[in-house]
Amino acid sequence: MLQRMRILTGIQPTGTLHLGNYFGAMRPAIELQSQGDAIYFIADLHSMTAVFDPQIRLKNVLNVALDFMACGLDPKRCIFFRQSDVPEVTELMWILCTMTPVGLLERCHSYKDKLAKGIEANHGLFSYPVLMAADILLYDTNVVPVGKDQKQHVEVTRDIAIKFNNTYGNVLVIPEPRIQESVAVIPGTDGQKMSKSYNNTISLFGDEKTIKKKIMSIQMDSRTPAEPKPDADKNNAIILMKLLNPSVGNEYEEKLRAGGLGYGDLKKALFELYWNYFAEARQRRAELEKNLDYVRQQLAEAAEKARAVATGVLDRVRKASGLGAF
Ligand code: ADP
Ligand code: TRP
Repeated sequence: MLQRMRILTGIQPTGTLHLGNYFGAMRPAIELQSQGDAIYFIADLHSMTAVFDPQIRLKNVLNVALDFMACGLDPKRCIFFRQSDVPEVTELMWILCTMTPVGLLERCHSYKDKLAKGIEANHGLFSYPVLMAADILLYDTNVVPVGKDQKQHVEVTRDIAIKFNNTYGNVLVIPEPRIQESVAVIPGTDGQKMSKSYNNTISLFGDEKTIKKKIMSIQMDSRTPAEPKPDADKNNAIILMKLLNPSVGNEYEEKLRAGGLGYGDLKKALFELYWNYFAEARQRRAELEKNLDYVRQQLAEAAEKARAVATGVLDRVRKASGLGAF
């Protein structure tokens, strides 16, 4: 029998989701939910390396769930759950730790970047990629859609899985990363990568006035409106517009290139496009917010389904590695 491709990805509940998250991670995940057997989870165990307030963690989990479901993630078409509701992942993580050379983790860019920023590394931050490997391997995942920044972690996962299989027999499925090159890096209001760490984000949901202000603050150069702009395709507002609506984005790109379009008007048009793009999602989110028990129920039911898959895989791992019946 032909097996359906299993797709899995996780999203950290560490703050308000923004357009970078949406185009880089959420929209591709939502599109993929109909193409395979999709498992998505809210990585609250991973958030423990950076968030130390329990109330904020719980609130962030709920917000990520609301944002995803509002944007079109359908709990009937995929398994969407909270990572910590399947505790088997931590047992698998320990087993995989024993297959992980320290040097492999020391070479991870995201860990090295955090050290370079002066963040005092706890052991959790160091072994973060092993927990991610456990997430992926616990569900016999074939494909992991992630942003460019996470590709190395999927490669680490492959190395660990291959080592496990060489040691204990062919038990783990070797996953492949899938990177969406076309939306590799979404620029923020200052032109750098949009990221909550840089305070340059445009949120998916929130108060109209605040978001408008943020969009109007997108940095531009000092050329006059009348000047033609041959580099219009590099303009950050144009890049965002094209993601929201390619034909309107192309139209504005031409107007900007020709000269005569002021940056203020361009940003106003971007705001309109953005506001309309998320209108339906905004309405759905407001409805879901009135019905939080439904959201909690969906996550709980999904965790049951995820756990059924996880226990099967963990059983194989336990047997192969001499932890089973004796
Ligand atoms: P942040 O940089 O705001 O902390 P995360 O690291 O939590 O965002 O990213 C969550 C997901 O969203 C990842 O898959 C990441 O690759 C994607 N992502 C975040 N920012 C961007 C961006 N500016 N462009 C494309 N993808 C992004
Ligand atoms: N580390 C990922 C991020 O920061 C989130 C994540 C956790 C993940 N576990 C995963 C992504 C497993 C893909 C697969 O974006």
